[in-house]
Amino acid sequence: MTRFTVAIDGPAASGKGTISRAVAETFGFAHLDTGLLYRAVGKKALTFTDGPLDPDLAGNLAAHLTEADLAADDLRTAPVAQAASRVAAIPQVRAALLDFQKRFARREGGAVLDGRDIGTVICPDAEVKLFVTANDRTRAERRFAELTANGHETDLDTVLADLRARDKRDASRDAAPLKPAPDAHLLDTTELSIDAAVAEAVTKIKKRIGQG
Ligand code: DC
Repeated sequence: MTRFTVAIDGPAASGKGTISRAVAETFGFAHLDTGLLYRAVGKKALTFTDGPLDPDLAGNLAAHLTEADLAADDLRTAPVAQAASRVAAIPQVRAALLDFQKRFARREGGAVLDGRDIGTVICPDAEVKLFVTANDRTRAERRFAELTANGHETDLDTVLADLRARDKRDASRDAAPLKPAPDAHLLDTTELSIDAAVAEAVTKIKKRIGQG
């Protein structure tokens, strides 16, 4: 097996990142967290304005992302998440990031990509597609725990409101909205432990590879 793509989509804090990292580790696949691309563009955009951004300028920022932009250690903050969601609605930004993601998906040795449009737009032919969800209160609690563990001061209501605003924007935009691909497996992690969710994902992939 040289090329094998796992597409993992879902809303913020659904568990898709954790599942993706575990899947990559289990199968020795490369992993791309595509949210980081949009976060890096969002962060750059904030240096210009926290309001509406010229679409061509935003596309230009996306076209000139560097490794250093992706390695910045402050991409996980709430303002950057909102900025990411805003720039992600701009078609020029999505177009500028398309080729890189498609090439990553078809690299030798297998790849797992997580995001919002991997199964629908980036890799419609992915061998396995998962759509990971959880109810919004559970997701807010997870994100709140993560933010406070990293030293960010916030409260649960703010996190929940931020998350709902982002989900709404991500799912209602015209350009590659968040939605399950018709052939995606739905994985609801509301009542699942991380281990159980990972095990379910691994089982689906093994079946497709022919090991299960
Ligand atoms: O996965 P994340 O929370 O790091 O993503 C941040 C934002 O980036 C998210 O609110 C929407 C956008 N995004 C996107 O539009 N498409 C992707 N494939 C990944 C992220």
